[in-house]
Amino acid sequence: MPRLEHPPLRFDTNGAPFSTLFGDVYRSRAGAMAESEAVFSHGCRLPERWSGKQRACVLEIGFGVGLNLLAAYRAFHLHAHPAGRLDFVSIEAHPLAHSDLLAAHEACGVANEPLLRELATRWPLALPGLHRLTLAGGRIRLTLAFGEAARMLPRLALRADTIFLDGFAPQRNPSAWEEPVLRQVARLAAPDARLATYTAAAAVRHGLVQAGFAVERVEGFGGKRERINARYAPRWKTWLPPPPPPRWESRQAVVVGAGLAGVTIAARLVQEGWQVVLLDRQHLHASEGSSQPLLADHVHLSPDDNLLARLSRAALLLRDPNQTAGLLGLGRIALANSAEAFSRQQHTLATLDYPTQFACALTAAEASDVARCSLPTGGIWIPGSMVAQTNLRIAALLQEARDALIWRGGCEVASVQRAPGELNWRVADGRGQVLAQAPVVVLCDASARMALPPLQSMPLRRVRGQTSWLRYPLMSGLRTVVGGAAYAVPFDGQALVGSTYDDHDAAEPDPESDRSNARRLAACLGTAPDSVIAAARPGVVGFRWTAADRLPLVGEMPDEASAWARREELLKNDRLPLPRFTGLFCVRGLGSRGLLWSTLAAEVIAGALDGAPSVLERDLHEAIDPARGLRHALRHSGLRVTTR
Ligand SMILES: Cc1cc2nc3c(=O)[nH]c(=O)nc-3n(C[C@H](O)[C@H](O)[C@H](O)COP(=O)(O)OP(=O)(O)OC[C@H]3O[C@@H](n4cnc5c(N)ncnc54)[C@H](O)[C@@H]3O)c2cc1C
Ligand SMILES: C[S@@+](CC[C@H](N)C(=O)[O-])C[C@H]1O[C@@H](n2cnc3c(N)ncnc32)[C@H](O)[C@@H]1O
Repeated sequence: MPRLEHPPLRFDTNGAPFSTLFGDVYRSRAGAMAESEAVFSHGCRLPERWSGKQRACVLEIGFGVGLNLLAAYRAFHLHAHPAGRLDFVSIEAHPLAHSDLLAAHEACGVANEPLLRELATRWPLALPGLHRLTLAGGRIRLTLAFGEAARMLPRLALRADTIFLDGFAPQRNPSAWEEPVLRQVARLAAPDARLATYTAAAAVRHGLVQAGFAVERVEGFGGKRERINARYAPRWKTWLPPPPPPRWESRQAVVVGAGLAGVTIAARLVQEGWQVVLLDRQHLHASEGSSQPLLADHVHLSPDDNLLARLSRAALLLRDPNQTAGLLGLGRIALANSAEAFSRQQHTLATLDYPTQFACALTAAEASDVARCSLPTGGIWIPGSMVAQTNLRIAALLQEARDALIWRGGCEVASVQRAPGELNWRVADGRGQVLAQAPVVVLCDASARMALPPLQSMPLRRVRGQTSWLRYPLMSGLRTVVGGAAYAVPFDGQALVGSTYDDHDAAEPDPESDRSNARRLAACLGTAPDSVIAAARPGVVGFRWTAADRLPLVGEMPDEASAWARREELLKNDRLPLPRFTGLFCVRGLGSRGLLWSTLAAEVIAGALDGAPSVLERDLHEAIDPARGLRHALRHSGLRVTTR
């Protein structure tokens, strides 16, 4: 993982924020906001192009202190549709430290701008990857891509109508202006997108022309002779441009399954202005997989920051800090179970160089102090890790969504179908009775067992698990989650300890599973197994559904039969999109990380319905795509799935 360091910030003799890394000012000395307005906002003709628009999307290289965001928002606020939404996606290789961001706002005379004040309160930790912030009462969806432009651009999926190139001067900082960077910018440009930058360097002009932009030189700002305005108008045949946002006949959706995933997604869609019908075969929410009383965030950390680590971190960071009803902010200590494991953990942290607010190493003494319980080893402290009191969480989400949500229990769905030419999916029971219909259906049925278009390329496995209520007298003051071979969630003077992965299917609590949980917890605490005592309450049994790669299935369902029929064509050109069932989404196979994956899935699905810039880097998106198994099977025809 590339390190992300806050850059040193200085102020030059005029008081302008100045980068010692690049030897350049963040904004023109001739006027910070004036430059943003003249060069970027007017350079891209925002006031007239955005007039009455419902949505707009800016791609920027070089977020800096956020003045261009402010300029774009001013244009959007004044000229776009009052109910419109601005997407602003900005790449920043060296995010400023929070205190420097504030100082730079002060120096640029914008410290009292409400938008920038809000930005500063939500300023993300310096973790590589994408950070999503909803600002200005939902009118701005800001995606900050922390990392080098050359590395981040290929990982983005969006359709920009406006592009700001605002890295430091090309002579001092070629990394932001190289031809591969400009080609990637072109990949993300909508036809006729406008681009602006303050430079007119010949190499930049040349690179833009090579990438398909029609370039115009105009009078420069603040003493500069010239600058560039450009329009994306390639004179050759290009790959498919990024698709426009989907249009739905109505903002009505059916969510099948009222476990944690279904309820989280239903509530998120309601926030986005959808009317939702939520169906479940059970009469109560969270009756099946989500019946565990407490669910902890299981954030994965790995020395090479692998896919699971990045995905689980993305999920944790996507949680809305203002919507934590039913969640307990306990934090978690990932215990090292030996001195060697502790030094491996320290090595991992030194390599990854996370901000300590995200993760830091604690010695045994420090860990014991934080956990209020004597711990035999140190570990990694993840303060932002939470625990859901499942019922309270679900009740809070339903309460929040109540005005636009219809809940119907006792509805076993047997099929979801859409006749050719029809706009709505019909969700029907076993007798063919239509239970609900809508242009969008999200299957949160955990298992893919019902007779919907079954995903043959992505089979799921059911695994029994059991958590146990256990006590260990020395743990009575425990106040964080501790995890190692087992994890313990403190609650009400006891701890819920989990969890087993069993090779049988018994629905009743199994005493052997309780013993297994106690043994593993004792090993974590460095104590004798019989010092861990079973509490009065019985263990809680549940079944998780997992894919072979242990990652969830989140996204629009692939049409396997059509894909097989077009296999040759799809294999010849892997940029062609796979055929999908438009409007039919699934969120399945959440395995042991239902809490994190539900949050992630809600953002991914809400974004997909809205045609938003992807909230995940492309490889992460592909890793959870329900079509990943199909893509693999198409390539390896020996694994051919049967078509219907
Ligand atoms: C012992 C154990 C401990 C766990 N601990 C944790 C933890 O600490 N942290 C964590 O994040 N995760 C944990 N999990 C995993 C977590 O519980 C699941 O990932 C999560 O609850 C799955 O939620 P879901 O909504 O996808 O599935 P479910 O809760 O199973 O919901 C699916 C819903 O779909 C409904 N349904 C299915 N088919 C149909 C149909 N045909 N028609 C209508 N309705 C239908 C079902 O009735 C059900 O209500 C644990 C799991 C177990 C077993
Ligand atoms: C001139 S400042 C941007 C000012 C900013 N647009 C604003 O409105 O405040 C340039 C920014 O580009 C960033 N940058 C420089 N090279 C980069 C690269 N290769 N990839 C991403 N960001 C880069 C710098 O860290 C710096 O924050």
